[in-house]
Amino acid sequence: MRYGSSSGGQARAACGAALALTLALVRAAHSGVIPLPAEVVPGSGAFGIDPKTTLRVPEGDRDAGNAARYLAELWKRTNGLTLPISVVPLAAIDTASTHSIAFRHRSGFGREAYELEVTPQRVTVSASSAAGLFYGAVTLWQLLPPGGNTGRIPTQTIRDAPAYAWRGLMLDSSRHFQSPAFIRSTIDWMAWHKLNVLHWHLTDDQGWRLEIRKFPRLTSVGAWRVEPSGARYGGFYSQEEVRDIVRFAATRHVQIIPEIEMPGHATAAIAAYPALGAATPTAGASTPVVSASWGVLTHLFNLDPQTFRFLEDVLAEVIELFPSPTIHIGGDEAVKDEWNASPEVRTRARQLGIQDPEALQAYFTQTIAGFLEAHGRRIIGWDEILRPGLQKDAIVMSWHGVSGSHTAAVAGNDTVLAPWPTLYFDNRQSSLPTEPPGRLKVVSLEDVYRFDPRDATLSDRQRHHVLGIEAAIWTEHMQTEERVQWMALPRAAALAEVGWSNAAGRRWPDFLERLAPMFARYRAFGLDFADSVFAPAAGISRTAEGFTVRLSNQAPSDAAGNGGIRYTLDGREPSSEATRYETPFSVPVGTEIHAAAFIESAQVSRIRVLRLDAQAARRRDNHELEPCSDGIGLLLEAPGAGGPIAVDIMNPCWIDRGVDLSAGPRLVAAVAPLPFNYEIGADAAKIRVGDARTTEGELEVHIDGCDTPALAALPLAGADAKSVTILPERQLPRIQGRHDLCLRFARPRLDPQWMLDWIEIGE
Ligand code: ACM
Repeated sequence: MRYGSSSGGQARAACGAALALTLALVRAAHSGVIPLPAEVVPGSGAFGIDPKTTLRVPEGDRDAGNAARYLAELWKRTNGLTLPISVVPLAAIDTASTHSIAFRHRSGFGREAYELEVTPQRVTVSASSAAGLFYGAVTLWQLLPPGGNTGRIPTQTIRDAPAYAWRGLMLDSSRHFQSPAFIRSTIDWMAWHKLNVLHWHLTDDQGWRLEIRKFPRLTSVGAWRVEPSGARYGGFYSQEEVRDIVRFAATRHVQIIPEIEMPGHATAAIAAYPALGAATPTAGASTPVVSASWGVLTHLFNLDPQTFRFLEDVLAEVIELFPSPTIHIGGDEAVKDEWNASPEVRTRARQLGIQDPEALQAYFTQTIAGFLEAHGRRIIGWDEILRPGLQKDAIVMSWHGVSGSHTAAVAGNDTVLAPWPTLYFDNRQSSLPTEPPGRLKVVSLEDVYRFDPRDATLSDRQRHHVLGIEAAIWTEHMQTEERVQWMALPRAAALAEVGWSNAAGRRWPDFLERLAPMFARYRAFGLDFADSVFAPAAGISRTAEGFTVRLSNQAPSDAAGNGGIRYTLDGREPSSEATRYETPFSVPVGTEIHAAAFIESAQVSRIRVLRLDAQAARRRDNHELEPCSDGIGLLLEAPGAGGPIAVDIMNPCWIDRGVDLSAGPRLVAAVAPLPFNYEIGADAAKIRVGDARTTEGELEVHIDGCDTPALAALPLAGADAKSVTILPERQLPRIQGRHDLCLRFARPRLDPQWMLDWIEIGE
């Protein structure tokens, strides 16, 4: 795969003194609200809130009642505050003198817009829609810091509306399955980030997750795979569970857009019903099975009329289940090898008068789009669907960077920005050892925050076609629900602000300040969010007496309210009063450092413990080594390893910089195997294998480059094929000065994939 890249460089506004003062007032007013509201007019004074405060809704106004109940639910959860709801005649809503929070419909607002007026006597949430009232409630919830059941909300008027109508998150439930309860919880936190589209990736090569009554084998066969370990893995959502989830999503103003992948990413369906496939049966060939490999599989649906009837029958049930006006039909990464090789497909193409296989996919897309159109729905697909003849009402989801969106908008198609790599949340958030498995590329919270959806080269008319933005949570490497949450949060908060808030008003340091109370809300909801933006990173260098330690994190140290990284050397947990890290410091061998980051007095990272003992002087864990290349970089979990291992699967090779070899040190290496279960097509031929000198291969050690003659080779013969092995140690030759060591595996075959867990170099 080759991907485009996009990064939104956004100049920081310079602030004069007067502007700084205004911003400070505004900050005090909206403090804690994510996404940043469009307009905040601060007043003076505050509305006091306590358990006697009443929520008031007009008689017969179901939307106002729902918004008030949701607010009550949220405050109960995060503040232990239980507020009564009183239903009053509409005429009394504006006149009641009691200290209350009122919800009311008012005409003149946009689809999701609302106004929130806070005076010392009362709070009024007004909107023209259920969604507007709901978002007003969410903002009001966030104006009260989480924690106590009393507080004061500064007097202000908020007039708010989203910048983009489509603020989405894609969840891949095929590669790993998440429970219905988890899906509901995701929808819930999406709602209080004002995210409004859950794009639910339900089918792929590795599992078909949606019950289709007419075709039971899609789930009895297609929902289950045999993992490389031999374990059976799978699951699916029954139609009853889906209906329940769709109903729940409606209460949260989240639209669920189901994705049924075609013509590629179809292996699970073809495994269930082999007649759907395009592969030419060859002697001795077996039918495809649900895949336990990652990457791009070559199995495609064929173009038989019966296959289209099958897909239409599937979509007919999908339409029954999901009320969304749009259905996602995938369309990405459909490698045409099987179509090119199939006599039946070629015959069909001739009948249709189509020569080009890409045009054949366009025919496929148009046929399905036509069916959906006849049933009152429109299609959305990945940017590969953008071909001549595409229906004008089809929506193009741009994942090859942002260029697909530009082309679609110019062509007059609606489009959603979901660009790799910035909005691909399977990329890790930092290079800290605490990141769970995923893709090796770092897409930090700041990278997401600084993504700018605006395309200055579009005309006003074309710009209207850009509906919004979406981040993708591909779950190949997210085996647990906790890890899905870690990868999603808080990057989804940054996404929400990019999608909702006016780009001109967004400021990164201000966002970080508002993140501290958001973290408290995540905790109150039991969400496993990432602290990567604040988590202390440690740079350690060896000195004659001990170590020099550098601490840093991704947060700008000059941001208002940033309490910095605090640490202790006496084993106690650091508080906001502990020593603040300023410059590198030296400690003797045997020191234990406990460090954490603070925003004002709130601890915003977990505590990082660094044990600087004699072993730390010798040991380099995988995360302290540098992969030699950046082909397909992954962070993988190997049984028995100390943590996830960074590897370029195209080239299992690492560099250890500046190693002192003058004493002829001893090298110990711990190696970890994993099955090589990646479908990477022709790229597989680019991986170096067959260069081993012994039967199982060896770990080679080179200096000052990887193509120099090997200094040493540690044979893998006898290494455990399922877990970490510490290879017999090796004395390295005595060489003056510091050198970069290159450690790479020479191997007889691709499988297993050998990786370096850690090395020790020293006495
Ligand atoms: C994609 O990432 N294949 C849409």
